[in-house]
Amino acid sequence: MTDNLSIRFLKKEDAIPTQKLLNHKRILEHLKSQQFLEGIKMKISDPRGSLWGAFYGEDLVGVSELGTRNHSGIANNGIIGVLPEFRQKRVGSSLLFTQMLQSFLEGRRKISDVIFHSNPHQKFVLPSLGYRLEYVMKKQTENFEDLHIYSYFVDEDFFKTPISRLPSNLVSIEVVNSEYTKKCWNERIIHLEAHKKIELADTFQRLRQSLFRIPVSICEYSQRQVDKKFENCFVPSDSPTKHGVPVGDVDEARTDPIRKTTDFASPNTPPTPLTGKEA
Ligand SMILES: CC(C)(COP(=O)(O)OP(=O)(O)OC[C@H]1O[C@@H](n2cnc3c(N)ncnc32)[C@H](O)[C@@H]1OP(=O)(O)O)[C@@H](O)C(=O)NCCC(=O)NCCS
Repeated sequence: MTDNLSIRFLKKEDAIPTQKLLNHKRILEHLKSQQFLEGIKMKISDPRGSLWGAFYGEDLVGVSELGTRNHSGIANNGIIGVLPEFRQKRVGSSLLFTQMLQSFLEGRRKISDVIFHSNPHQKFVLPSLGYRLEYVMKKQTENFEDLHIYSYFVDEDFFKTPISRLPSNLVSIEVVNSEYTKKCWNERIIHLEAHKKIELADTFQRLRQSLFRIPVSICEYSQRQVDKKFENCFVPSDSPTKHGVPVGDVDEARTDPIRKTTDFASPNTPPTPLTGKEA
């Protein structure tokens, strides 16, 4: 098994291992409902990109889902599970970061997550990525348990926190940059401008460029091969690249392949901080 972690879309052939992982008893106990193969296959075939897997080499060690997205620029996390023996190595954080990236590429400005009050893990994971407890739905479940709603606000943190939490062994992340993604992005920017958030719209445009640049300089964004709909992944195949980094627009230090994992990851040496002004 390799030490490197990669996050990629799940393919049709991953459906059975995905189901097995999500129905692992130490994951199922928190998801509360069993996962069926047909449902997993449906999510895998969602062209927007909904289901990601975390892999050490060929081994699937975690799965997460980006759930509903609405017209006000909000996305909701779906289920997530990491095998017990791979927990607390920031695999879950990497999966959640991937979903944050995907959401932002669609122009979403807020990502929410609903957790059971009794969940012993997420109350650590979500705040560590910059999510904050937004509100509590009291006695919401069948057994009168409270649900906690956590949210991450892109326009407040600009990805500074999650980028600083990525593990050093994360080598690649796959996201969709399809016609749908671009259409959503353009619509969201128009809405921001229509609501007189011109400065924010501008900041988002610049943040998007910085985000593309930072991870691309440290990750090897790969293209999805299984599904033609995913052809336009993060780095278009026809872009001139050097060490996987688009040529031009990127300073030389960032093109050093040896730097790419250390830059990305070490929580002690976070990459260039992004603020609204700098981005
Ligand atoms: C929730 C889950 C996906 C988190 O995955 P993970 O890979 O362990 O999370 P990370 O390693 O990225 O955690 C991020 C931070 O939270 C901390 N953390 C995570 N779980 C923790 C726990 N149970 N206790 C204390 N700290 C915890 C980690 O230590 C890490 O901080 P650090 O690196 O500074 O120490 C995993 O625990 C899981 O699969 N749980 C069962 C399923 C579940 O609860 N799903 C959520 C409902 S859908």
